[in-house]
Amino acid sequence: MALQWFPGHMNKAKNQVQERLKLVDVVIEIVDARLPYSSRNPMLDSIINNKKRVVILNKADLADEKMSKKWQEYFQKQDISTYIVDSKHANNMNSLINNIKKEVQAKIDKYKKAGVKNYRIKAMCIGIPNVGKSTILNRFAGKNIAVTGNKPGVTKNQNWIKTNYDIDIIDTPGILWPKIDDQAVGLKLALTGAIKDSIFHADDVALFALDYFKKHYSEKLKKAYQVSDSGLELDNPDLLLFLTKKMGFKDDFDRMSEKLMQDIRKGVLGKYTLDQIEEVDDAVN
Ligand code: G4P
Repeated sequence: MALQWFPGHMNKAKNQVQERLKLVDVVIEIVDARLPYSSRNPMLDSIINNKKRVVILNKADLADEKMSKKWQEYFQKQDISTYIVDSKHANNMNSLINNIKKEVQAKIDKYKKAGVKNYRIKAMCIGIPNVGKSTILNRFAGKNIAVTGNKPGVTKNQNWIKTNYDIDIIDTPGILWPKIDDQAVGLKLALTGAIKDSIFHADDVALFALDYFKKHYSEKLKKAYQVSDSGLELDNPDLLLFLTKKMGFKDDFDRMSEKLMQDIRKGVLGKYTLDQIEEVDDAVN
C-alpha cells in the first residue's frame, strides 16, 4: 500500500502548529462530519496538550444526520464541545462564534478581574487538508480572504480575522496530515476525496464502498443502481461486475469503480457517514 505519510512531513506540520498554538486561547478542530474519526489527526491530542479545544463536524450537509448527532454526543461525553456545521451553505457563523467564545468565558472573566477591559479571545483552526478550514475562515471573515497556508516563516506575520464577538481568528490554519496506518482509514479518506486518488486503486475503494453501503446503507445502494435484494447478496467483486455490466460498461470495472466513487462523493447515493462509533471504540480498546 503506497501511503504518503512521512514522519518528517508530520513533524514539520506539528512544529508549525505548536509554534502558533502559543498565540491562541482556543483551538477549533475541524473534521469532516462523514469521517469524525478518520479525518482527525490522532496526534492532535498530544500536540495541543491541554489547550482548550472545540470540534466542528463540517460538511454536515453530506453526512448522515443521525450519525452526526451520535458523534456529537460521543465527543461531548469526553467534554469536548462539538458543533455540526455546513460551512458551504451557512450564511453566518454568529451563533457558532458566540458559542466558541463561551468556551473561554472563564479566561475572559479572569482578565476582567485583573483589570483588562476588552480582552479579545484568540483562536486558530486546525485540521487535515480538505476538511474545510479555508471555507470556515472565510465564513468567519464574512468575505473571501487569502488563507496563508503553512509557509516557512509564516508565524512572523500573522494576520487576524476580527469578528464582532471579541474573538479574533488567526488567518493561517494549522494543517496536519492524516496518519493512515490503518487500511480502512485510508480507504475512507480516499472515498470522500480527502486524499489523492492515486494512493489507492479505484477498485479497492469501490469494493470497500460496496461493502460499507451493503452493511449500513443498503437501501441507498439499491435505489441508486436499481439493485434487487438478491443482487445485494452477491459478494462484493461479483456485485461490482454486475453493476459494471448493468451500466453498460461491459467488463470495464475500473470505469464502474470510478463512477461509484464519484457518485458517492457527489451525494448521488444520499447522505452517509463512514465512521461507526463502535468500530472506533474497538480500535482504541
Ligand atoms: P481546507 O482549507 O481544509 O483544505 O478545505 P477547503 O476549505 O478548501 O474545502 C475543501 C472542499 O470542501 C472545497 O470544495 C469546499 O467547497 C468544500 N467544503 C467545505 N466545507 C463544506 C461543507 O460544509 N459542505 C460541503 N458540501 N462542502 C464543503 P472544492 O470542491 O475543493 O471547491 P469548490 O468547488 O466548492 O469551490
